[in-house]
Amino acid sequence: MTTAVVADVASIVRRGLKLRDDAPVSVTEDGALSNINYVYRVEVYGRSLYLKVIPEQPKRLPVKLPRERVFSEAAGLWQFRAFAGGEVLIPEVLFVDRDEFALAMTDVGEGRAVLFNVIRDDFDLLLEAAQPLGRGLGAVHACTRGKASPRPAQEEAIVRRIVFDGLLAPGARQVFAEQWDGIRAEMEAHRECLIHADLWSKNLLVRRGAPVALVDFEGVCCGDPAFDLGTLIAVALLPALQNPALVDAALSFIEQLVNTWTIAVSDAAWVDAVLPRTFRATATFLAARGFGPFAYDMSDDARQRVRALAGDLASDTRDTFDAFQRKVVSHARARL
Ligand SMILES: Nc1ncnc2c1ncn2[C@@H]1O[C@H](COP(=O)(O)OP(=O)(O)O)[C@@H](O)[C@H]1O
Ligand SMILES: [Mg+2]
Repeated sequence: MTTAVVADVASIVRRGLKLRDDAPVSVTEDGALSNINYVYRVEVYGRSLYLKVIPEQPKRLPVKLPRERVFSEAAGLWQFRAFAGGEVLIPEVLFVDRDEFALAMTDVGEGRAVLFNVIRDDFDLLLEAAQPLGRGLGAVHACTRGKASPRPAQEEAIVRRIVFDGLLAPGARQVFAEQWDGIRAEMEAHRECLIHADLWSKNLLVRRGAPVALVDFEGVCCGDPAFDLGTLIAVALLPALQNPALVDAALSFIEQLVNTWTIAVSDAAWVDAVLPRTFRATATFLAARGFGPFAYDMSDDARQRVRALAGDLASDTRDTFDAFQRKVVSHARARL
């Protein structure tokens, strides 16, 4: 990181918080896990905050994106926080800098770890969060059902193209080429409520005995709740496909997530429509993490189990929860 960038960050923060030019502001980049944006932890007068600066050219993705997407991220973040309820911690927007396309928000770290860094050794940290996540997401999905997207239509189209063509299609085509067009069309067609759309383990912060925190609202859009549920289910399944000892815990997470989400949305017809799509979305996310860009590190055996389970989940259009569980158990415990 160059000194020029640090100086800019400090002056964005002084301007946003209306501090004097000589107010002491210390900046560290928190970018190890970030593929897209420039994220800084900032300390000022003993308090910390996060500043996210949105470039036109993402750090590790060869595309160009409008920097104005920062305004949609702030709007989506604000809405998520308004509807999620108190059990899931969501940052508060402090200010948006229109000149530098930067978003400042409260620090929800507070002793939490990024789930991605700890899930293999401490799956309980995710398990603990199952019910709050189900209730929080259910509340957001239900409260925003039928409402407009926080994104302008043209920007939403650009973001969708990157997500579907750039991030999801390559893995899905390798694992279930024949079903991908149908699954993609289905995922794209359901624009039903506000979704986070990026609930990967790098965007979940966990700490034992404390509420789970969600960050990174860059993907928020009007979409299919199956997208959010499917991402979280994939987060739980990936460690279990690497370590069969975690299968029961992963299934317990999924069951608690789905049950609490079902109660929170309280609309049986909606749940019946969303759940089968959730399992195909799960297939897509597993394929992306096993075989797409930014694929995760895992053993060859684990990658084979990911392929088999994703292929099996993609092949059925009406999987019930029981059928889903049977598929998980048989593939996760398969001897290769
Ligand atoms: N408000 C916040 N509080 C605490 N940590 C945060 C906050 N925002 C981001 N982070 C940390 O910075 C990392 C990168 O931020 P993120 O918004 O996910 O950027 P990107 O869009 O580039 O992935 C996150 O994984 C998280 O560890
Ligand atoms: Mg992120």
